[in-house]
Amino acid sequence: MKWLLTVLKQTHKPAVNISRPSSCASSGLLPLRDEVVVGSSRELVQTIGSQVEVRTGFISEEEEAAFLRELEPSLKKKRYEYDHWDDAIHGYRETERVRWGPACEKILNRVRSVAFADGSPLLGPAHILDLDKAGYIKPHVDSVKFCGSTIAGVSLLSDSIMRLVKVDAPNEWLDLLLSRRSLYILRDKARYDFTHEILKDEESVFNGQRVHRERRISVICRNLPG
Ligand code: OGA
Ligand code: MN
Repeated sequence: MKWLLTVLKQTHKPAVNISRPSSCASSGLLPLRDEVVVGSSRELVQTIGSQVEVRTGFISEEEEAAFLRELEPSLKKKRYEYDHWDDAIHGYRETERVRWGPACEKILNRVRSVAFADGSPLLGPAHILDLDKAGYIKPHVDSVKFCGSTIAGVSLLSDSIMRLVKVDAPNEWLDLLLSRRSLYILRDKARYDFTHEILKDEESVFNGQRVHRERRISVICRNLPG
């Protein structure tokens, strides 16, 4: 599904420790919502933050296991891809799926009902992206030609950090802590005006805290352009 991504050259990477005290709560300086979204300023978290949602523990361990049972057989037939210098994603294999068993269908219906407005036409298949422990996703904006205003993803097997950086103002950024079994939703400006990326294991520091990235699978639902 490489056609989904438009890679943008990132001229600036937010330094990990720019205005990031190890404890936001005690400093009172940095805005955060339930400790899962931090950013370059309070204003940004409050404005764009409303178009970013992270729901920790969105699926149960049993539901995660149901996804893995259904996905592992087809993923295991593929090899992780590395070293394509122009690719947005490194160390990954992927698939897509339209038909699911009842357990997974039920979970996906929950994702759809939370993330998309009633009747919003969805991209038929869900996209499944399996990142190796060494894998990562470079900053990109999902294709505006093929995908609509909303992107929703469930994370399996590992915590990770998603970074959003404003395309025309790279000093404006948000970091999202995507814990294992969480759901994230990017909407509107967060989806169009910011790149998103999944950090490498060794760069995964959230709000001063090291986050160990293991192999991670995401199940992503998107809608169609209006
Ligand atoms: C993508 C993407 C994020 C994720 O495939 O376009 O940004 O959660 N994936 O895996
Ligand atoms: Mn993307």
